[in-house]
Amino acid sequence: MRLMLDSANLKDLERALEIYPISGVTTNPQQIQGEGCIDFFGHLKSIRSLIGDDRSLHVQVLGRDKRTIIGEAEKICSILGEGTYISVPVTEEGLKAIRDLTQRGFNITATTVFSTIQGILAMLSGVKYVAVFYNRMLNNDIDAPRVIRELANMLWTNTSNTQVLAASFKNVTEITTSYASGAGACTVRPEVLSMGLGMPSIQKAVSDFRRDWDEVYQGKTILDL
Ligand code: E4P
Repeated sequence: MRLMLDSANLKDLERALEIYPISGVTTNPQQIQGEGCIDFFGHLKSIRSLIGDDRSLHVQVLGRDKRTIIGEAEKICSILGEGTYISVPVTEEGLKAIRDLTQRGFNITATTVFSTIQGILAMLSGVKYVAVFYNRMLNNDIDAPRVIRELANMLWTNTSNTQVLAASFKNVTEITTSYASGAGACTVRPEVLSMGLGMPSIQKAVSDFRRDWDEVYQGKTILDL
């Protein structure tokens, strides 16, 4: 089971990496745009050095045809390292490129997945992750947990090397439902992740314990005893 950060913001990533058990970072063109007119490769190199070599970095291509997608994947990997995960939308042209790239050993994350059939086609084409767009699916009245469940079951049955990477979250319930439905990984924006620890009941319980302790030990901590 894996947790990734869905962000291209260096400050947010740095803060979140200190707190959460993170195994990778996913980025998309919208997040890159949110950073302003940055040096694209320079910025991604900074993300790589921040997360270290052991975490996965997922970078999305923009090409609309097989040749451009393949060219972009090659360029990204030549600059950011062979192990970089290339996120490719599951369209007809995307699938053509995915099949070529996986046969040549590229790590591919199939992205913009809204349906089970997209996931099946990506899985059969040898991708490492199938990025299912949970909240965007709900917005279109698509049963996201069902799609995750179906794909996860197929992956088990086929002992495939592919994992469902649930993405596009707006709240904590969507994350926990994804894992419970069989997602092997979730990628989450830092601000959505922090909602999980932000509820007042947690802080109240911590404060109550501290008050009980202070009544007896009057401000001393365990270190002072
Ligand atoms: C991650 O790979 C996706 O691009 C991302 O989760 C999409 O999230 P959004 O629907 O919040 O833009």
